[in-house]
Parts: sequence; structure tokens; C-alpha cells
Amino acid sequence: MREQVYTREDTGRGPLILVNASHPLPPQPAPRLAPALPGQGDVLLERRAARMLAACVRAAGGLGKIVAVSGWRSRGEQQEIWDGSLRDHGEAFTRSYVALPGCSEHETGLAIDLAAASPAIDFIRPDFPRGGVCGEFRRLAPLFGWIERYPAGKESVTGIACEPWHFRYVGAPHAQIMAERGLCLEEYLELLRGGGLRFAYRGGAVRIFRIECGENGVTLPLAVRFTVSGDNDGGFLLTVREEAA
Ligand code: DAL
Ligand code: ZN
Repeated sequence: MREQVYTREDTGRGPLILVNASHPLPPQPAPRLAPALPGQGDVLLERRAARMLAACVRAAGGLGKIVAVSGWRSRGEQQEIWDGSLRDHGEAFTRSYVALPGCSEHETGLAIDLAAASPAIDFIRPDFPRGGVCGEFRRLAPLFGWIERYPAGKESVTGIACEPWHFRYVGAPHAQIMAERGLCLEEYLELLRGGGLRFAYRGGAVRIFRIECGENGVTLPLAVRFTVSGDNDGGFLLTVREEAA
């Protein structure tokens, strides 16, 4: 049977990786990048995340009305933003709205800050309203694998203030499950640590569960249909389509 080996390094890669103050992103090359939205070559995202963002903005009727403000950042750029914010806004503001360099999702290429198109856009706290075309984007986002990453009420879990403009690509069907159950990424990964789950999806079902990565990595058979992502916490999340009975 053909097999695929996943190494410890691989636990730090994939759409479900947790990156926060207690889970820094391990040093790694920049992902393969693409413009976050058509015509916005100055803001980049990991390629698949970019494709799914553009598809969602298009489906919401938001092309030209929704603007990508900040996508992939190098660690050095995150440091500059941190330093600039400390200088201009002080420590309390900065700790609330800027992730520590090395601990920002923006360094993964899987996070985007969005704004409603406007002549003046705040770089750190852009305005992305709950209504109109932005509201339509929010409604559709989970279907395209995107979640609002720092919702109100989860500040003590995420360590970041409510950021209605910051979205994170986690992929399907995870974004839908998180939205339906009202879970932020920390909570979703904790749930998966406590046992897998089953989710009715596209006329069938998927099972999602976590496996710990051993010293020598993990070896998975290629015969089963699954996707795999590291969790940046010593393991992998497997999403397996259930075979029809
Ligand atoms: N604004 C988010 C938390 C970041 O800096 O990554
Ligand atoms: Zn952001």
C-alpha cells in the first residue's frame, strides 16, 4: 500500500495551524503567494486562500467594494507594524490589536484584513461593516473556508480584541463547523483534541480527528481519501470522507 510520511516539521504547516502568542509560527519559507484580490497585487495571500477569498468576494457582489488592506507579512514587517503601533498608540492598544512578531497569523499568508472601499482606510483597524456587501461577505465566508478570527466575546481565548476586519482561511468544512457552533480556532482545536467529530457535508459526511505526531512523524496510507493539516501544536488534523454504506 502506498504511504505518505508527515514529519514533525509538517505539524507547522497547513490551513488549520494555530498561531497565537503561545503558538509562534516556526521559521519557514514564505508560502506560495498570489494577489489577495484581482487588481490588488500589493496585498498577497497564500495561493489557495487568495483563490477562495476572491471567490467569496465575487459571490458577495463585493469586487471593487471590498478592499484587501493587509495580507501576508514577513516577520520583519510584523515587527515594523508592532514598533510603529507601540510608538503611535502605546502598549495597551498594541497588545490588543497587533500580534507579537513571530506570532501573527499574517505571517502564514492565511489571514486578511478587509475594508469597505473608502478614500481613507485605517491600516490597523479598518472599517468592515456588518451590513451591506460586507455583511453578505460575512454570511458567505464559512462556505469558502473563511472565518472571522477574533470575534467579540472570545477575547480571553484568542488574546486579541474584537477585530471585525480580520479573517482567517481554515478551509472547508472547518469554517462551516466553527461558524455553526460559535467556536474560535483555539476552541475548535481543543474540541478536536478531546475526540473527533462527524459532520454532514455535501450529501455525505466527513470525520475529523487529531493524531499526535511521534518522534519519527506519522505514516498515513494513501488508499483513504483524506486531507491533512498540521495544528502547530504537535499534531495533525485529518479530515476523512466517510465511504457510503
Ligand atoms: N491584528 C492581528 C492580531 C495581527 O497583528 O496578526
Ligand atoms: Zn489582521
